[in-house]
Amino acid sequence: MSNGPTRREFAGAALVAAVAGTLPACADPQRVAHLDELVDGEPVTFRYPDNHPAFLVRLSGPAEGGVGPNNNIVAFHQACPHMGCPLPLHDKRLLGAGELGPCACHRSTFDMRYKGRQLFGRATQNLVRVQLEMRGNYVYAIGIEGRPFGEATRVDG
Ligand code: FES
Repeated sequence: MSNGPTRREFAGAALVAAVAGTLPACADPQRVAHLDELVDGEPVTFRYPDNHPAFLVRLSGPAEGGVGPNNNIVAFHQACPHMGCPLPLHDKRLLGAGELGPCACHRSTFDMRYKGRQLFGRATQNLVRVQLEMRGNYVYAIGIEGRPFGEATRVDG
């Protein structure tokens, strides 16, 4: 007698969810920054997973899914989900407020306070979000939500 899904059923559901982009894809944890290094609106760039350009930034206010003492540290892939153009990271005031964009290619903008939600422009998908975790005073990337631009379905782990 069983009250829940079998391991095979669970693995199948997880695979379906990951393919649909609703589950984070696992990747090896990667140390990205120390809390003391972070300044509101100043991005820290890194690559995660593999060679995907990504950035981490501390916002001036809390963010959904944010980490750190004020839940205001977030990270995303830098590639625009529309056609992969690099999103601008030079406007510290905008970044600190949680807005990313406009994309130089077709003007899409995104709200980092709400997991990279698409706000304006031709993009129809949200940003690929890098999941973060605090380990002491260090911020680690531990996975992603969404499909990296240009990649077929990604299922790690
Ligand atoms: S590539 Fe960014 S809006 Fe088209």
